[in-house]
Formats: sequence, structure tokens, C-alpha cells
Amino acid sequence: MTQYKIGYFVGSLATNSINRTLSKALIKLAPDNLAFTEISIKDLPLYSYDYDASYPPEGTAFKAAVEAADGLLFVSPEYNRSIPGALKNAIDWGSRPWGSNSFARKPSGIIGASVGAIGTAVMQSSMRSVLSFLDAPQLNSPEAYIAFKPEIFDAEGNVSDSSTAEFLGHYMSEYAAFVARVLDVSAEGHIGDLDPMEKAEK
Ligand code: FNR
Repeated sequence: MTQYKIGYFVGSLATNSINRTLSKALIKLAPDNLAFTEISIKDLPLYSYDYDASYPPEGTAFKAAVEAADGLLFVSPEYNRSIPGALKNAIDWGSRPWGSNSFARKPSGIIGASVGAIGTAVMQSSMRSVLSFLDAPQLNSPEAYIAFKPEIFDAEGNVSDSSTAEFLGHYMSEYAAFVARVLDVSAEGHIGDLDPMEKAEK
């Protein structure tokens, strides 16, 4: 079975982040062929294009971590109906300097938990437009909007409710299959390299 390196982001800086707990649950429930490494966002300065001429070590390390991953997983809260500032700042770092967008062609999953009923749906919608602009293909289905119930998740990410565990496990299986599909197609070559006739046949 092919192994894939997955870089995951937790979009919250909070000590008791429910999204960090969700990320632990997702890792436990994921298929064995995915190996997870967190790509930390907490030490990045606030991005400005003044840095483009000479990226600081935090920015360079962040881009290198994104580029080393086969696939990306965003596990994030929704703040004020959008992407939390710390995570958006990290994405801005990875997208620059112009011409060196680290997210391009990285198969990506977006999931999140909130204390409210809509389960980060609006954040996920914003994230899809950002990642589309950055040319990162995204898992479209299943969607996963998690209304977090503290009695179901313990601090280590064990999930006591079987239907929730099954749903999250299914999400991760579909995510793994999606990463494999995207990388398989990418390995065949970049469609932009084909002549127009070949492209039309694809
Ligand atoms: C929130 N919360 C929130 N919830 C939601 O469903 N939609 C929203 O737009 C917001 N907005 C929002 C803004 C800010 C600044 C905070 C701090 C919180 C509530 C949020 O779901 C809750 O705090 C979660 O615990 C956040 O996830 P983490 O940070 O614990 O992973």
C-alpha cells in the first residue's frame, strides 16, 4: 500500500482547542497509509510582502513543510463566519513570494468543529475559495461540519459515540482515496504540457 505524508494545520491557537482535539480523533481514525505531521502556524509573524525579498526562517520552514507533504488537511474553527486570522496569515505566507505558491496541486481536505450548529460551514466555504485560487484541489464530498459535543471526544481524541467515529473514519478514508487519486493523475504528467488534441481527449 502506498504511504502518503499528510501535513495538517490546526486553525486555532487556543490551549484547549476543540479543533486540536478533532485533529487527534481524525488521525486515530485515518487509514494506516497516511502519516501525519502538524504544520505549525503559531510562530509565523504577520505576513507582509516586505518579507518577499528575504523570507525569515519561520516563513521558509513553513513553505518547506507544505511542499514536503503529499496532501494537506485543514482542521479549523470558524471565527466570525470566516477563516481564523492566524490560519489565513499562514496561508498567505505559503502562497508567496509571487511565483512560488507552495499550495499548488496539493490535494487538500477541509474540516472543522464549532460549538454552534453550523459546524464551520461558512469558514469551509471561504477556505474553498482561497484554496481554489491557490490551485489546491479539494475533497468535495463528503463534507464534514462538526458540531462539537465535549461528552463524545476525550482530550486524546478518542470518540465514544460510534456513529460519530464511523462518520469521521469514513471522511478520512475518502480523503485518503482522494489524495491517492490526485497524486496518481499528477504522476501521469501535467495536463498543461500536452498538446491541445491530447488535452481534449483527457
Ligand atoms: C467564535 N465561535 C464561532 N463559532 C461559529 O460556529 N461561528 C463563528 O463565526 C464563530 N465566531 C467566533 C469568533 C471568535 C473570535 C471566537 C473566539 C469564537 C465559537 C467557536 O466555535 C468556539 O470558540 C470554538 O471552541 C473554536 O474552536 P477552537 O478554537 O476551540 O478550536
